[in-house]
Formats: sequence, structure tokens, C-alpha cells
Amino acid sequence: MNENDSIQLSNLLIQKLNIEPTKTLSDADIVIINTCSVREKPEHKVFSEIGRFAKIKSGRDIILGVIGCVAQEYGQKIFSKTSLVDFVAGTHNIHLIPDMISDVLKNRKGIANIAFYDKIESLNIATSPYDDYGVKAYVSIMQGCENFCSYCIVPFVRGKEYSRKSHDIYNEILRLVQMGVKEVTLLGQNVNSYGKKSSTEISFPELLYKISEIKGLDRIRFTTSHPKDFGDDLVYAIKNIDKVCNQVHLPIQSGSNKILKLMKRGYSREDYLDKFYKLKDNIVDIRITTDFIVGFPYETEEDFQDTIKILNEVKYISSFSFKYSPRPFSDNSEIDTVDDSIKRKRLKILQDLQKSITLQYNKDSVGKIFDILVDSSSKKSQEELSGRSYDNRIVNFKGDTSLLGKFVKVKITQAFQNSLRGELL
Ligand code: 5AD
Ligand code: SF4
Repeated sequence: MNENDSIQLSNLLIQKLNIEPTKTLSDADIVIINTCSVREKPEHKVFSEIGRFAKIKSGRDIILGVIGCVAQEYGQKIFSKTSLVDFVAGTHNIHLIPDMISDVLKNRKGIANIAFYDKIESLNIATSPYDDYGVKAYVSIMQGCENFCSYCIVPFVRGKEYSRKSHDIYNEILRLVQMGVKEVTLLGQNVNSYGKKSSTEISFPELLYKISEIKGLDRIRFTTSHPKDFGDDLVYAIKNIDKVCNQVHLPIQSGSNKILKLMKRGYSREDYLDKFYKLKDNIVDIRITTDFIVGFPYETEEDFQDTIKILNEVKYISSFSFKYSPRPFSDNSEIDTVDDSIKRKRLKILQDLQKSITLQYNKDSVGKIFDILVDSSSKKSQEELSGRSYDNRIVNFKGDTSLLGKFVKVKITQAFQNSLRGELL
């Protein structure tokens, strides 16, 4: 979502202020840092990143803005932490940034806009493709979260759930497809909650059916889904709509019922496994990815082993895993009971196991044929092209650059940890 916010802001600034993006930081007159506060580490990084501007700013009159979740969290307080920042815009305020920059240019420095609104206007700023060949785009469909998991800052920095109108989403995708986009990823903190607050809006599965009618759109992905809201209607939508990739990101966080309860996730491991088997039994070759938190307060070795068991049972194709990091505003902001060395050890065990499962998926793919959307030249070799399979794995193969942006069939010949290699058919 942050990446897409940056794309939208860039489009808005080009359009409203008639300015151009630069290739290097040293050429820029305006620098905006988009930020994440979901864990402590990226938050610290923001302030070291701002610190780097002391040198750059001293010689020239550069405008420095901070936006995103850390901007939302700190607001005016950023100005007392550093004198280098000129403006701060929170997560609902992207649409105001052109005016804020104009104000800064009139010497009104130190402006912070972090208000939340009932209608999030910034969601409707035009987006554009994120890949070099203009075939893949993100489309935000909702923002905010009202689940209040006990560890999470997101409901406090992204605000209440707000869904964009399905009509606007449809038109935006239509516009992107007319530009050449073939794959969209629908974004939201909890896409399953899409439309639930409005009696007139369609549901998320209905939205999938609606946008799948767009001619020229070949692939639809979405992220993130909450297991507690993942209904049968969504399983059947994925199964029935060919364009929806058979791939679901379904964050479990922990395999221990005790920890899930403390996390206030609203499901048990049994509930989660029911949803998993519903997906697996209905959708051929469904690929599930997930998020894990290790070292959550009061997590014992036995709780952690429950997480390992679930990884072995579901066999996620890949996962994101993190050490628990106490976050302001959350229920657990003051609690952090598991020693960092234990967190580190558990994280390594989990990540090593995940690596071996991922590698096995990759090895099992040798000899299989995949439809690949070619989106770049391979990073390693000029003659090689690179693209993604339906389950989002990177596939490299020899081919002519005229294939960039197209779908091709590739037979897998070699498996690596983070990618596959194949032959063009
Ligand atoms: N500590 C560690 N990981 C966290 N996440 C969210 N909050 C925290 C936290 N306080 C992780 C969850 C979530 C992902 C986006 O970030 O796994 O799904
Ligand atoms: Fe955070 Fe939970 Fe909402 Fe996800 S569902 S954004 S983890 S509060």
C-alpha cells in the first residue's frame, strides 16, 4: 500500500505542480520520505534517513516532507525531533500535499496535516503501473482496519475501514487496462471487509466478479485477507474466476491458540485450518502465503512448536516472519516478555524451515509448464527475461525483448531458492 501511495503521490505532483521526477537524490529540489511504522525497525530507519539530509540540505534549499504511517504517528512531534523536515502528511492527506508544498515555498514551513476523514479522498488519486513495462498495477480498494489485533499499530495510523466505490475501482482498472496493464493487485488492510459498511455497496467477492469482466485484464491478485472474514463466497470466487490467481495471502501470525487469543485475532488454529482445507480442497494448485510473528509476549517453546506444526501442515509456499516488536497505541505497547536472543533463535528456525519448504515447491515445479507474464529483463543476464507465474514466483528464461509485457509459456528446467529457470515453449 505504501508503494502505491508513492506512485499516486508522484502522479499527483507531476500533474498539479508541473514538476518532474529525478533519477538521483542529489538532483532533487523536493524529497518526500514515505514511511512504515508497523515495527520499530522501519520507524528508526526513518529518522536515520532524515538525518542523512543534514548534509544535503545545508548546501541547497531542498524541501523535505515525511508522509505515511510514521508521519501519522508523530504529526507535529517530528518537528521537535528534527529541524530538517518542512512538512508532514498523514495517511489520509496525500491529496493535500501539492498545496502543502506550495505553502512551504511561500515560507510557511513546519506544516503537519494528519487529520482522518470519513471519506478518504487520496484513494481516488490516479495510479499507474509499478513495473518497467507497464503491465502490472496496484489498485487500492479500501483502507484502514478495525480489527485492533493487540500488537498492531495499523488501526491507529490508517484509521477506520473505508471502502472506495466499486464504480471508481472499476473505472480505474479500465483506464489502467487501456494503458496496457494486464495484472492488477487489489490492496487493502483487510480486503474481505470491502463494502461491508455500506448497504448499497457490493461485497469483495462480487467486486472480483465485476472487475473480471474487464476485457484485456488477465490477472487479478489481492492482499491482504483476514482469516476470520475469509468466507466460502470468496473461496468460490477464486475457484470460479479464471483471472483471479490461485494464490492467497492469509496471515496466521501464530499456530498457538493461547497466543492467537492474546493477539485478539478472532480465530483459533482449528478455524484457520478449516479455511485452509476449504481452499485446498476446492482450488487445484492453490498457493498460500502467510505472515508470522515470533516471540509474542508469553510465547513459550510449546507455543512456538505449534507455529512450526502449522507451517509443516499448511506448507506455505513462502512467508514473511517477524520478531514481535512492541508498538505504541497497541494493547501490548508496554509488554515484551520474550528475550531477544530467543526471538532471534525462533525466527531462524522458522525461516530455515520455510526456506526448505519453498525450495521443495521450486524443485517440484521442474518439468511443469507455466504461463508467465514477462515483466523485466533478468537481473543476472542481459539475454534472459524474467516474469512471474500465477503463484508469483520469479521465472527466468532466454528470450527476445519483444516478449516484454506479454504472456508466454515456459517449461521449468531448474529450481533455485528464490527463483526458477526455464525454456520458452
Ligand atoms: N511486531 C511484529 N510484527 C508485526 N506485524 C504487525 N505488527 C507487528 C508487531 N508489533 C506483522 C504482522 C502483519 C505484518 C504486516 O506485520 O505479521 O501481518
Ligand atoms: Fe493490524 Fe490486525 Fe488490522 Fe492486520 S487485521 S492491520 S494485523 S489490526
